[in-house]
Amino acid sequence: MNGTQLPECLDPVASPGSSWHPNLWHPTTQVATAEPPLRVVAGKGVWLELEDGRRLIDAISSWWVTLHGHAEPRIATAIATQAVTLEQVIFANFRHPPAERLAERLSAVTGLERLFFSDNGSTAVEVALKIAWQWWHNRGEQRSQLIAFSGAYHGDTFGAMAVGERSAFSAAFEPLLFHVARAPWPATWWADATVEAREQEALQQLDSLLETPTAAVILEPLVQGASGMAMVRPAFLQAVEQRVRQAGALLIADEVLTGFGRCGALFASQRAGIQPDLMALSKGLTGGFLPMGVTMAREALFEGFVGEQPQLTFFHGHSFTGNPLGCVAALASLDLLEENPDRYRGIEERHRPHLERLAAHQQVKRPRLLGGIAAFDLGAEPASYFNPAGKELARRVREHGVFLRPLGSVVYLMPPLCMEAAELDACYAAIATALDEG
Ligand SMILES: Cc1ncc(COP(=O)(O)O)c(C=O)c1O
Repeated sequence: MNGTQLPECLDPVASPGSSWHPNLWHPTTQVATAEPPLRVVAGKGVWLELEDGRRLIDAISSWWVTLHGHAEPRIATAIATQAVTLEQVIFANFRHPPAERLAERLSAVTGLERLFFSDNGSTAVEVALKIAWQWWHNRGEQRSQLIAFSGAYHGDTFGAMAVGERSAFSAAFEPLLFHVARAPWPATWWADATVEAREQEALQQLDSLLETPTAAVILEPLVQGASGMAMVRPAFLQAVEQRVRQAGALLIADEVLTGFGRCGALFASQRAGIQPDLMALSKGLTGGFLPMGVTMAREALFEGFVGEQPQLTFFHGHSFTGNPLGCVAALASLDLLEENPDRYRGIEERHRPHLERLAAHQQVKRPRLLGGIAAFDLGAEPASYFNPAGKELARRVREHGVFLRPLGSVVYLMPPLCMEAAELDACYAAIATALDEG
């Protein structure tokens, strides 16, 4: 891989000019050791423009939200028009056309009839958990177990943390987190010879967990994002679904990351061949423009909350529930997906030859690819969030004009769908060069 040429669209850049602001507190950031943030002034398509004039390719869609590209004009215009028509209204007493249209369209594409709004991915998960739990409660059935998978990440609010894998992220709150049973997640990669045995082992453990009456099983279909782009095979998820159905439990798909084309189909559940009872959506929902979460639910779940007794009510609501600006952004984003399905259906094949070439590099281990998500581990050690190798690689990659944020030693690309072939070439060339430099 020596002597890799960088494409012309990337000018090598000087070391970053970055600093801390005295009044800001950044997410998931240890100020004592982290590099200060870069000051960004504009974004267009896959590009971020920094204050000092440098440009970086946003190769991870800004924490996986920017679906079609930054400042996508159709979404921007839809928001601007709605902002001078109806910007917000209390959703407990009112409904409005953008919310109605979005509910109809998401219901049609997910096969789940009811839409409940919240504000982000964590709250979309909280809502799914609360609906599942209260549904059984409303029926007077005792099902006191929730099952999640090892390595899961479902967000940073308390319920979402509880179903997520316990880690340094949640350690301080451990006594406050409710109990969740956990099944293994048999992650796989190219040329993985052990996956079948690990899948069987995981299913056996799931079988024994399901002997306890279970309210719901929650999973990230096909890929666990935050735990390191840990991908499983569709057949495994089909076997999970079959067991969940046999046990009469509810299946929750957390598609906060995987939804809206990221995995090569509109939803990862569809590509996996499973039909969940509840689906949490956010991130790409508004094309990455505005914070919004939705939880889609089967009609039968909604019906379990209807009745004369007040305690049957789902007493959950956020101030910005059903925000019209978020709704029109989501509608415009769905239009773009429907008009250009090849952008997400074809993205896996656009990555494949690049990842195949990169896989020949001796530091690249366990390469894996799903839709627009291409990942590998840096080095043979088991992937770890606190392994600094990824950070060091990202620093070198950034000098070649590409922004990455590895998950410890897991390096991945998840670019906006608008990425052109030359820009994708540039991303892989920057990684290859940085690997050679390492
Ligand atoms: C699968 C999954 N669920 C939930 C969340 C939480 O979403 P948010 O950060 O919008 O609260 C994330 C965030 O990365 C996620 O990847």
